[in-house]
Amino acid sequence: MGWYERLILPRLIDCAMGQARLTGLREAQVGLAAGRVLEVGIGSGLNLPFYQRDLIEVVGVDPSLGLLSRARQHVAWCHFPVRLMQGRGEALPVEDQGFDTAVMTWTLCSVQDPLATLHEIRRALRPAGRLIFIEHGAAADDRVRRWQTRLTPYWRRLAGNCHLDRPVDQLLAAAGFRPVTLERGHLIAGPRPLTYHYRGTALAG
Ligand SMILES: C[S@@+](CC[C@H](N)C(=O)[O-])C[C@H]1O[C@@H](n2cnc3c(N)ncnc32)[C@H](O)[C@@H]1O
Repeated sequence: MGWYERLILPRLIDCAMGQARLTGLREAQVGLAAGRVLEVGIGSGLNLPFYQRDLIEVVGVDPSLGLLSRARQHVAWCHFPVRLMQGRGEALPVEDQGFDTAVMTWTLCSVQDPLATLHEIRRALRPAGRLIFIEHGAAADDRVRRWQTRLTPYWRRLAGNCHLDRPVDQLLAAAGFRPVTLERGHLIAGPRPLTYHYRGTALAG
């Protein structure tokens, strides 16, 4: 990992992901989590303030030590136990079927292998466990999607491997997730290649 990824990127991600326009999306979605929760790509812990107080535990996994150390600053304020672990979505360092809920917000865009990550999340969820997600990805409009594909090779170098053009709904289906709720569209204001979102919940099975 180079100096940009180690020193600059965690600050940029924390700052970009802390934008107020994302907070409303986080609050509604993260508040749905219940029981024992696995958050994949927890980043700087920006979802932690929005979990319900009565959770059993949140286990947060992320490959970036810089982001995990920022997440640690939120833990003191949590009313439930939080465990932070370094790891990757493609090989989650957790037991089989140990979680009631998995949470993934703006993470599927950045993992190396989105399908392997979703299969790992399925492994970690108990039967009938629920995945709660907010992800940006491939737009419905062909013209926007072509721009997303053109921009992604440059964007991912600056933005921690973030891909603009991943078809989140198709990836969920390919990994065996069944959407229970799915809202798609430009859910926030901003440049169209960056703002097409998929927000919802899905069951494994
Ligand atoms: C755009 S940030 C979003 C962070 C956080 N989920 C949020 O909502 O603020 C993308 C996150 O994915 C993490 N990430 C990158 N590659 C990953 C992988 N292979 N497995 C799990 N997380 C990964 C990054 O370290 C970063 O925390």
